[in-house]
Amino acid sequence: MELIERIKRHEARVGVIGQGYVGLPLALLMSEAGFPVTAFDVDVKKVEALNEGRSYIAHVGADRVAAAVAKPVPLRATADFSRLAECDAILICLPTPLGKHREPDLSYVLGAARTIADQLRAGQLVVLESTTYPGTTNEELLPILEAGGLTTPADFFLAFSPEREDPGNPTFHAGNTPKVVGGVNPESTEVAAALYGEVMQRVIPVSDSRVAEATKLLENIYRAVNIALVNELKMTFGRMGIDIWEVIEAAKTKPFGYQPFYPGPGLGGHCIPLDPFYLTWKAAEYGTWTRFIELAGEINSGMPQWVVAKCLDALSEEGKSMKGAKVLVLGLSYKADIDDDRESPSYELIELLLKRGAEVRYCDPLFPVARPGRAGHPVMESVPLTPEEFGRYDLLLLSTAHRSFSDPSLYRDVKLVVDTRNAVRDEWGPKVVRA
Ligand SMILES: NC(=O)c1ccc[n+]([C@@H]2O[C@H](COP(=O)([O-])OP(=O)(O)OC[C@H]3O[C@@H](n4cnc5c(N)ncnc54)[C@H](O)[C@@H]3O)[C@@H](O)[C@H]2O)c1
Repeated sequence: MELIERIKRHEARVGVIGQGYVGLPLALLMSEAGFPVTAFDVDVKKVEALNEGRSYIAHVGADRVAAAVAKPVPLRATADFSRLAECDAILICLPTPLGKHREPDLSYVLGAARTIADQLRAGQLVVLESTTYPGTTNEELLPILEAGGLTTPADFFLAFSPEREDPGNPTFHAGNTPKVVGGVNPESTEVAAALYGEVMQRVIPVSDSRVAEATKLLENIYRAVNIALVNELKMTFGRMGIDIWEVIEAAKTKPFGYQPFYPGPGLGGHCIPLDPFYLTWKAAEYGTWTRFIELAGEINSGMPQWVVAKCLDALSEEGKSMKGAKVLVLGLSYKADIDDDRESPSYELIELLLKRGAEVRYCDPLFPVARPGRAGHPVMESVPLTPEEFGRYDLLLLSTAHRSFSDPSLYRDVKLVVDTRNAVRDEWGPKVVRA
């Protein structure tokens, strides 16, 4: 197959649509492997930054971007989608959010498919990487791409290959994480596997695109359900006076049959809170239910309320009321040490505390300014990360365990901490309530 030959010679031009947390690392990886890469995004600021060799994602080094744009066959970013026609392989890394009624919002992905269809030519490979429900690639993308008369596998190839990015993970990145690939026909699987095989250590071809889509959902649902399980056990053991964190540390010494998951203030990020509901929606079409997903969603989404109730109790024990209490929320990111605050429970915590009359501020060195929340509270700015500032509050609520919050001297004058991540040690001084 001619395209496979071009891929093996690293002559195939790779276009990556969407330069976010998934698309940028993927474009860099393709470029580092020696492929000519065109990075597409509608956000002209991102396009400009990339072409100037700058990174806008904290854990993606600017040195990598600078090196990619300085190569003899450079990575080039553009907002001109007519240049898709130049690409031999087009990888779609666009958002797949939920709509107002928790229904899948495929507008980004289907919009991109229409743009690709307008200039589709024989010999191209299109791969969807965005997380979605089984059937999206063959039921939604395929008809759009074939509408102009070209067909697969005779003219072009179409596959799904889920992204497994774990932002900030020091061990696993796109290059050394096995890549699952499923085409809408065996020829498409073969071509897509050939491309990823040039840049990833291990490629796992599966029988079709629906299996690949389902694989990604299994991975995310597994996390959502297990996090819900430890969140529920946290509340149950808490009533019994047993510390869930100590229990998990002990349980994880079992060398087989157990994988630790950790409780927290609620789910965050683009994936775990949203993706499972893509399956719930699709399952209804088949007259079947996804009870584990619903139950996990219920438990996890109730966590911020539970944490705020813990704050209320902690303050009353000190003879204080929530109304008028000075509360400092530590961390806006949904996960430690990354600059991603999408779906972060910290926003809900802030809103719930404000509703109960607390005077709320936050501290997060990765977010000097916070987005206005759903409740429409005014734009907030991070307070400084200093012992003097920390000492000004009645209560510190630790929501994200950034490394910068683990300096004991910060807590010198702090009296009370509600800690949702088991990050603050009793010996640092303040009274610590785990929640
Ligand atoms: N972030 C993660 O850790 C992660 C991990 C695995 C899978 N995923 C999945 O990958 C997909 C992308 O997620 P992400 O985190 O990279 O999203 P993101 O929001 O970080 O990036 C999306 C990018 O697409 C751009 N964009 C929006 N509309 C566009 C259009 N019409 N054409 C071109 N560019 C456009 C945006 O400007 C942005 O740069 C989602 O389906 C997500 O579920 C994300």
